[in-house]
Amino acid sequence: MKLPGKVAIITGAATGIGQALATAFAGEGAAVAVDYVGPSGASDQTLKQIKAAGGRGIAVAADVSNPSQVAALIDETVRAFGRLDVLVNNAGIEFKHPFLEFPLEQFQKIVAVNLQGPFLCAQAAARQMVQQGAGGRIINISSVHEDLPMPTNAPYCATKGALRMLMRTLAVELAPHKITVNNIGPGAIYTPIDADVEANPAMEAALMAEIPLGRWGHPREVANLAVFLASDEAGYITGSTYFIDGGMLRQSGSL
Ligand code: BGC
Repeated sequence: MKLPGKVAIITGAATGIGQALATAFAGEGAAVAVDYVGPSGASDQTLKQIKAAGGRGIAVAADVSNPSQVAALIDETVRAFGRLDVLVNNAGIEFKHPFLEFPLEQFQKIVAVNLQGPFLCAQAAARQMVQQGAGGRIINISSVHEDLPMPTNAPYCATKGALRMLMRTLAVELAPHKITVNNIGPGAIYTPIDADVEANPAMEAALMAEIPLGRWGHPREVANLAVFLASDEAGYITGSTYFIDGGMLRQSGSL
């Protein structure tokens, strides 16, 4: 087991990459707080998978953009499991729309969840880790779009680019406390965030043409990388983004 005795919070873990991370972490011996938004019961499937993996988990409803709900998320985790070792800022939303008509309200919502959320969660988690005095891990699930532009997706790309500099800055600032901070930048992973593309063969074919390996990534593949970065083995790794994208960022088009 790679994460024995660790306690992890994974935000947005009711579905998709977050769910795969929660399940993988539990299977590696971590106790997992499954953060979610939405109706109670939204995270039941994740809790079931954690149990099936032989792990321990709790579900906590918390909107990551809300400071008091974030404080409660940390408190409930520490009350249940006694400490906090790993935070994964996974919760994220996406809304594609042409820039010239992009609604301000949607922009603000994306910034709140994708950027303010990781800021607040990292701050609250790091305070807890500093108080414990044993270091810790902060991992942000970013995107290839922290580097790669995507027309109609400006606010999402802007928040992911901002996550890169949030990560780099926190990596330096929290290093004296032995807290490492890294990003994982997934490409096209088969999850509900891309339901529109998955349901549209033409859009799906266009996306696959951008990926040298020619296929979707699996959430479990992202989880494998996250488990490593969260483990003691990754103690000297901080301040970088690790892309997992089937080569998407290196696609050379018609060359
Ligand atoms: C986005 C997906 C997109 C993928 C590759 C992800 O960050 O959420 O919508 O398919 O990047 O472009």
